[in-house]
Amino acid sequence: MSFPLPNHELYALEDRVQAALRSADDSALDVLGYGEVTLVLKLTTSQGSYACKRLPVFPTADRYERYKHTLTDYLDRLERSGIRAAHTRLWQRKAADGRIVAYCVQEALPADRLCSRLLHTEPQSWAVDFFKRFLDHVDRAVTPSFGLDAQAANWIDQDGELTYLDVTTPLLRDARGREQLDVPLFLTSLPWVLRDAVRLTMSKSIFDKFYSTRGVLLDFLGNLHKERLDALIPAFLELANARLREPITAEQVSAYYRGDARMWELIQQLRKADRFWHRSVLRRPYPFLLPPDIAR
Ligand SMILES: Nc1ncnc2c1ncn2[C@@H]1O[C@H](COP(=O)(O)OP(=O)(O)OP(=O)(O)O)[C@@H](O)[C@H]1O
Ligand SMILES: [Mg+2]
Repeated sequence: MSFPLPNHELYALEDRVQAALRSADDSALDVLGYGEVTLVLKLTTSQGSYACKRLPVFPTADRYERYKHTLTDYLDRLERSGIRAAHTRLWQRKAADGRIVAYCVQEALPADRLCSRLLHTEPQSWAVDFFKRFLDHVDRAVTPSFGLDAQAANWIDQDGELTYLDVTTPLLRDARGREQLDVPLFLTSLPWVLRDAVRLTMSKSIFDKFYSTRGVLLDFLGNLHKERLDALIPAFLELANARLREPITAEQVSAYYRGDARMWELIQQLRKADRFWHRSVLRRPYPFLLPPDIAR
């Protein structure tokens, strides 16, 4: 957590985001990635380039402080589990009404070393070597209180070492299995029609998979369908199953993927309807930038 934050540039970046929200046009932003929850922007300055992950707006300073604490804990746990995470710092700006806009700021790592990309471009021998290293990390780190969202797009491979990127949603549970993250806040990008239902019935199951080696691997393998990397699944399944007490089958991977894709597609459709409602009926800016449609 050691690099200096480009404070002025972050102010200017947030101003551009506000303008993009007002116009629902993100063409003036350099988007590195649309996750399911966060928007990742690239910020280039004379000091270097940064990946800036805009968090849901915190309604109070107290909720921001709690997030900061959880993020710090999560980064510590990653380090203690032997997982190298991208250096991450929090930047915040308080609005007149007391709400807090915050970004997780990381140094931008080389995009051409993103593992989801390398799995397309490197030979199968690289893929197998990557997957073995990946399995070592997951196996060692994941516990019922410490989770990983380990899909291939969350890792950068540099000089044979993996760096984990996706720290904005710290996956930590207490001894009673309760999420340390402010889940309702992180679900605010979900349309209001869904939010309560999701919060009550889905959030536990959305998160459960991240807290077991089997769940993390099933999610990783299911995502290979989304990434059009299906050809790698048989070899990866064999390596994964050598470590699992209850093996995963190819059918389970496809079924998992279909369920996951359907859920996110539905959410995306509802978000678009919600945006229409805000802009055309309420005549208010929709407070999120939506990813383009993904072929699933
Ligand atoms: N430090 C970084 N350097 C370069 N590219 C990055 C960096 N962090 C993120 N990215 C790019 O942005 C994408 C999304 O980032 P990240 O995984 O952190 O958020 P996310 O998937 O949007 O999170 P979530 O799904 O939890 O909302 C990554 O897949 C990668 O392409
Ligand atoms: Mg991600």
